This record gives sequence, structure tokens and C-alpha cells, in this order.
Amino acid sequence: MRTISVGLGARTYPICIDRGLLTRSELLLPRLEQRKVAIVTNSTIAPLYLESLAGALRGAGVVVVPIVIADGENHKNWQTLDSIFNLLLEYRCERKTTIIALGGGVVGDLAGFAAATYQRGVPFIQIPTTLLAQVDSSVGGKTAINHPHGKNMIGAFHQPRLVGADTATLDTLPERELSAGLAEVIKYGLIMDAPFLAWLEVNMEKLRARDAEALSYAIARSCENKAVVVAADEREAGDRALLNLGHTFGHAIEAGLGFGTWLHGEAVAAGIILAARLSQRMDLLSAGEVERIAQIVRRAGLPTEAPDLGEDRYLELMGHDKKVEDGNLRLILLRAIGKAFVTADFRPGDLRKVLAGAAAHA
Ligand SMILES: NC(=O)c1ccc[n+]([C@@H]2O[C@H](COP(=O)([O-])OP(=O)(O)OC[C@H]3O[C@@H](n4cnc5c(N)ncnc54)[C@H](O)[C@@H]3O)[C@@H](O)[C@H]2O)c1
Ligand SMILES: [Zn+2]
Repeated sequence: MRTISVGLGARTYPICIDRGLLTRSELLLPRLEQRKVAIVTNSTIAPLYLESLAGALRGAGVVVVPIVIADGENHKNWQTLDSIFNLLLEYRCERKTTIIALGGGVVGDLAGFAAATYQRGVPFIQIPTTLLAQVDSSVGGKTAINHPHGKNMIGAFHQPRLVGADTATLDTLPERELSAGLAEVIKYGLIMDAPFLAWLEVNMEKLRARDAEALSYAIARSCENKAVVVAADEREAGDRALLNLGHTFGHAIEAGLGFGTWLHGEAVAAGIILAARLSQRMDLLSAGEVERIAQIVRRAGLPTEAPDLGEDRYLELMGHDKKVEDGNLRLILLRAIGKAFVTADFRPGDLRKVLAGAAAHA
């Protein structure tokens, strides 16, 4: 088992990564405040993994309340959250009842927001089952739902007590979802870990073939990078924003096409290319570096060209970004592979040209 610690003082928690971890109730038990949990999962994951986890917990004397929601990003909304609250109340879940998210980022974000707000906050555990959730969304305590005006607009910071990534669950993950997770993995290399990007360039085929050791290494290395950033800036007052490389563009793509049309990771991948092209226009990256980024994105099975939403629509959607400050759009750009920075200091004309380029390529 690989273990990484997210250092947040009294709220420090471990990320445990291993095959078969789902049934090891001894990992979870010491983290529970009461022998009762509510497991939030969805209709796709429940038949695959709910009984393994619930059975192991019941075997250890824990009362389990299963809450199964509909599958899909379009259900990451207020209505689903309300249905979770209804069941928590109906089954008399208390302040010490732990909410466990069993699923991908959608389940994690919804269950996490429920845990942050139910009875003003209850203990929370993440059991991520997608690559994206294992390398990114389950770590760091951001929880949210979408609003028709924008992604993740309503939410809270609420750190889990434990993140348990069972890499065996990735065996059933559809290939398109595996690729989407690789977008966030590549992101860590680009923003802060050039040697990891070089490792990915050597090992991309192994990852796509689900080589267990390669996946476990990539997950652990991604979590190590995220843990460093989160420990230094839990609430995104500064450098945590770097984790959003490609995301301002990506969120515009997701919202512009309708949530769920492109996967989050696909939109982020195309967004990373747009950020790289803007960096190139500002003479920060060379054409060769932009091509190197496009190549690794392509090899991960991800899109390198953003859809044509029209420049004006892109700008309108990007204006809803949470990084907008005093009305100014701030973007994450690259000054080298492995070195990202946040800036509002780019020429609007350059941004328009990059967005117009999206139309030209589409
Ligand atoms: N909170 C954060 O810090 C953070 C970070 C990144 C992304 N996110 C959010 O995460 C979400 C995307 O997460 P995601 O990519 O995991 O998508 P997802 O949760 O929609 O899961 C993808 C699909 O895979 C299915 N699935 C999950 N595990 C499976 C398994 N083991 N086998 C077979 N099928 C499985 C799901 O049911 C779903 O259909 C977005 O809403 C995004 O905003 C949050
Ligand atoms: Zn993301």
C-alpha cells in the first residue's frame, strides 16, 4: 500500500492507495466517530462495488445507509443534493454519522457538499473509483454542485478524514473515463513536476493498458503533488489556483456544450492546449514545447482541439470563472513545462486569437 499524507494540522489525513482496499474495513473503522455510515454512490457503481464496501463494514458491526443517486454530471445539482438530505434525515443520520462517497468526482463532490452542510457538517470519507477522482477530486476538500450559470458555483471546503483509492476498481472503468483522468495527471507534470511529465512520456502506453504498478505510481505521484499544493494553500488564496490549468477554458467548454457532453477531463485537455497556445503568443513557450504538450495529450487519448463555441460565447462563459477578481479574468499560463503561474496580465487580443483558433481547428 502507498500512503501519502495531506498535512493540514489537526485535520491531517492519509491517502491510501492499494488494490482491494474496498473490503478492508480496518482502514476505515478507526476514522469513524460512530458505528453508522451513509454511503453515497450512483446507479452504475452500486451493482459493482457497493456490496463489497457495505458488507465489509456491516461485518465489522457498522450500520450502513446506502444512498444511490442517478449517474451523470447533469445530476450534480441542487435536486440531487436535496434527495440526499431527505434520505439522511429519513434514516436518522446524526452529527457523528460519517458520509462515505463511493464513486467518481460527481459522487465525491455531491456527497462532500452534503457532508459539509448536513447538520452544519459531518465526518466525510472518500472512496474514489475513477482515475480522475483518485488523482484529483477526492483530495483537497473542495466540494460543490453545478448551477445552470456555471460549474461548481455552489459549494464548500470540507476535508475528508481519509481517502482510500482501490486501484482494482479501475479495471471496470470505461476507456474514455480512464483517458479523462489522465488529463489531470498530465496537468501535475505541466504545472509543477517536469520529471513526472518525462515519466509520463515513457509510460503512457502502460497507463492506458492499465498496468497496475504504473497506475499506482502515477496516482501516488499525482496525489503527492496535490497534497503539497493543498497543504500550502487550503482555501485557494494563492498557488492552489495553479491546479486549475486548462480549467477556465475547460469549464467554458463543459457549460457551452451542456454538462456531460464532453467529459471534464476531455474539456480540461483541450483547455490545457488553449492555455499553452496563449503562453506561446506571449513568448513564454516555444512552438516545440506546445507540440510536446499536444503530443502527450493526444497519446492519452484526449482531444487537442477545443469545440467552436465562438469567441464571444467563450469569453462570456469564462467571465463566470471563480478566478475572476474585480471583474478581471485571471488565467493559469505556463512559463515552461513544469512551471505554471496565475496572471491577469495578458493581452485580450491574444486571448481572442487563441479562441478564434479553436474555431479554425474545429
Ligand atoms: N473537488 C475537486 O477538487 C474536483 C477536482 C476535479 C474534478 N472534480 C469534479 O469531478 C467530476 C468528474 O469526475 P469523474 O471524472 O470521476 O466523473 P464521474 O463521477 O461522472 O464518473 C465517470 C463515470 O464513470 C462511472 N464510474 C465511476 N467509477 C467507475 C468504475 N470503477 N467502473 C465503472 N464505471 C465507473 C460513473 O458512474 C460515471 O458514469 C466533475 O464534476 C468535476 O467538476 C472535482
Ligand atoms: Zn479538473
